[in-house]
Amino acid sequence: MKISIVGTGYVGLVSGTCFADVGITVTCVDVNEKKINALKKGIIPIYEPGLETMVHNNIEKGRLLFTTSLKEAIEQSEVVFIAVGTPPDEDGSADLKYVLDVARQIGKHMDHYMVIVTKSTVPIGTAKKVKAAITDELEKRGVELDFDVASNPEFLKEGNAIQDFLKPDRIVVGTESEKAQKMMSRLYKPFLLNGHPIIFMDIPSAEMTKYAANAMLATKISFINDMANLCEIVGADISSVRDGIGSDSRIGNKFIYAGAGYGGSCFPKDVKAVIKTAADYGYKLRVLQAVEDVNDAQKHVLVSKIKEHFGSNLSQMTFALWGLSFKPKTDDMREAPALVIIDELIKMGASIKAYDPVAMDEAKRILGDKIFYGDDPYDVLIDADALVVITEWPEFRIPNFKVIDKLVKNKVIFDGRNIYDPNEMVENGFSYYSIGRKARHPMK
Ligand code: UDX
Repeated sequence: MKISIVGTGYVGLVSGTCFADVGITVTCVDVNEKKINALKKGIIPIYEPGLETMVHNNIEKGRLLFTTSLKEAIEQSEVVFIAVGTPPDEDGSADLKYVLDVARQIGKHMDHYMVIVTKSTVPIGTAKKVKAAITDELEKRGVELDFDVASNPEFLKEGNAIQDFLKPDRIVVGTESEKAQKMMSRLYKPFLLNGHPIIFMDIPSAEMTKYAANAMLATKISFINDMANLCEIVGADISSVRDGIGSDSRIGNKFIYAGAGYGGSCFPKDVKAVIKTAADYGYKLRVLQAVEDVNDAQKHVLVSKIKEHFGSNLSQMTFALWGLSFKPKTDDMREAPALVIIDELIKMGASIKAYDPVAMDEAKRILGDKIFYGDDPYDVLIDADALVVITEWPEFRIPNFKVIDKLVKNKVIFDGRNIYDPNEMVENGFSYYSIGRKARHPMK
């Protein structure tokens, strides 16, 4: 089977590589020549555990090809995925410029039956627009050709993308014809070995599924963060409450970890986009608006705790930050809580020294010399006034508290991800602030 994938961003590259890995011949297309040349040599533009090796292997086996020519890529393809970016407009709606450009290109060059699949997260109604753009180009050429459009949203998580793609919980496909459905079934057969289903539906439902999934997950996080804040007020502990509610199978124990707020390229963008879509139709999504408001506020919670301890004048003070990426196992800092926290601390006069296991280059690109950077977790602690943990990288979970004690001026830790045991902190002589658990201080 031969397919092509247009767009070698996160979703496009991971999908293309995983399809190639099960024996499908995949041609990945991108307009960025530099990127394509690097990819041909197996150099990948993103950080994703395991991906580079997989790209190498499949290039060697001749199943993973890269080109800047869309015409060449689609020549023998049975399925073409559109996986180009849909950056948010100023009003929060997704910009479809790139998706529709690709659709027009396909219409210009297509010469046989194909299924054209949108894989980028796109607003409801996009597949219809893709179809119209292709039809328009075919008409201009005076060509009559049968083709189908489909919607196949992607649910992979950064940092775990390969496993998510190879062993998906489910595959959602929106189609309009049996022919397209058969083609998509054949394509995904190698990934459905563990009894996980491929769910077929109409196209608007598939497009809506992606938004509803991310909106639901974001809702779980904002809900637990709101509860966490209440726990602190009433003297409860969110970790116990989480265990208590998560054991109810109707609720489930995943995605109910309180923290410094969600970030990344998906939740913030998709929550905004679905609120906007609803508004365009004259409907107000009240729950999701609250989800967004709670999340915006949650990114400030750690700073409130820092203020509670040190007051609001932080001049002459230096804070050591552990973790800058929006979550572990990625260098992605888009919408990361760290950015809000850094901004606020600097506004209050503080200096920042930060360390992240993989996001240092990204941080330097975004923040430049606004902050100082350290070579390892302990390096940033030298002469710092306090430690602030923002991302729960595994290497921060069991630090040497004696060394922290020696290096940091004040025995206080602000933990935005609840990775330490409050009792242990107090036993080690630290004041300890976390999320949804009351602040703890050692006995004098
Ligand atoms: C998400 C969806 O999980 C994925 O299905 C979709 O395709 C893209 O968006 P991703 O953005 O990679 O994936 O990250 P994810 O692991 O879902 O985490 C998102 C954010 O939620 C992170 O900032 C994380 O720290 C936060 N989070 C997650 C919590 O605060 N608490 C939790 O319990 C879980």
